Amino acid sequence: MRVARINGAVTKLLILLCVFPVANAVVDPLTWGLAVGGAVGIYAGYQALQCNYVECCTPKWITPDLNGRMMANITNYLHGQHLVKDVVIKSIKAHVRKFDPQKPLVLSFHGWTGGGKTFVSKIIAHHLYHNGFDSEFVHLFIATHHFPHADSINLYKDNLVNWIKGNISQCQQSLFIFDEVDKMPRGLFDAIKPYLDYHQHVDGARNLHFLSNAGGSGITQIALQNWKAGRKREELKLKDFNSALTLDAFNEKGGLKHSSLIDSNLIDHFIPFLPLERQHVKLCVIDELKRQNRHASGKVIDHITDEVVYLPLDLGVFSKTGCKEIEKLVDYVLETLPENRFACIII
Ligand SMILES: Nc1ncnc2c1ncn2[C@@H]1O[C@H](COP(=O)(O)OP(=O)(O)OP(=O)(O)O)[C@@H](O)[C@H]1O
Ligand SMILES: [Mg+2]
Repeated sequence: MRVARINGAVTKLLILLCVFPVANAVVDPLTWGLAVGGAVGIYAGYQALQCNYVECCTPKWITPDLNGRMMANITNYLHGQHLVKDVVIKSIKAHVRKFDPQKPLVLSFHGWTGGGKTFVSKIIAHHLYHNGFDSEFVHLFIATHHFPHADSINLYKDNLVNWIKGNISQCQQSLFIFDEVDKMPRGLFDAIKPYLDYHQHVDGARNLHFLSNAGGSGITQIALQNWKAGRKREELKLKDFNSALTLDAFNEKGGLKHSSLIDSNLIDHFIPFLPLERQHVKLCVIDELKRQNRHASGKVIDHITDEVVYLPLDLGVFSKTGCKEIEKLVDYVLETLPENRFACIII
């Protein structure tokens, strides 16, 4: 879309310059200079007008939230992730306040499936860009889709560098999200190190997020030990996970394995997403009912919450799929309720 629009703009500029080919031959240099200046002015005006309606890399479209709406959304809608709330909100707030940051903010999200890694990335995008996750300046790479073959690593590296370079030249305030990092070919990210580094001469992106299931089992073990010791989940601190996460990311299979990004400390924060407990799943069920504008009794809400599998099987502490399948379960349970079946027969 972006490329198409640039081509369109260039075409218009060329047309303006080509309208007077004969005049070019006879008009003196001063008049010709004024004509070109006028054309450039008209084009700039046209572009400014266009940016009122079409997304551009301008403050109208890039709208970092500094007034706490992101904090409110994360606080209200993200359940059971006190560490995520704290680090994400503080680091993004500090980063967007900087006029000219020395390096992009690089966050690496880790944890079991369904704990909210993609969900949080979407909330962040929503609060940085007017068009949220649909913005042209938000770029999502999914390992199994964009980098499926480990033996094509060199091609992927070239493509990724070109893609990042091209997009940063269009808009430095871009957000790059790499999902399924644990499934990316090893060494892929070493190619983009110059764009994450403290190099003043290389224009870097503003934000990068790495989403990964790597470290998920380590996080779960720490959370389970805490639970077994009878301590509150909220007593867990970031430092309890730091070394486990860095080591897991560095040693586990995937795009960050033995990566120079970790060696060179270019990842600002490794953020653990804790496995969700029954109480959090219940909140997800309530949110989903609200989202669908449907009502259910407390008994039905408990019933849906109990449909989820909790691990370890003998203790039943953590949801196997986090909140990932809640939408499906809400639909399924509500549709199988006797009153719904009755309603269907009447219709
Ligand atoms: N902690 C949470 N609080 C509230 N809702 C959540 C939470 N975690 C997940 N959800 C809900 O579950 C859905 C799926 O979660 P999400 O896709 O973010 O999981 P994920 O951590 O990215 O999993 P995966 O590792 O499989 O990609 C979200 O869209 C959101 O509706
Ligand atoms: Mg995800």
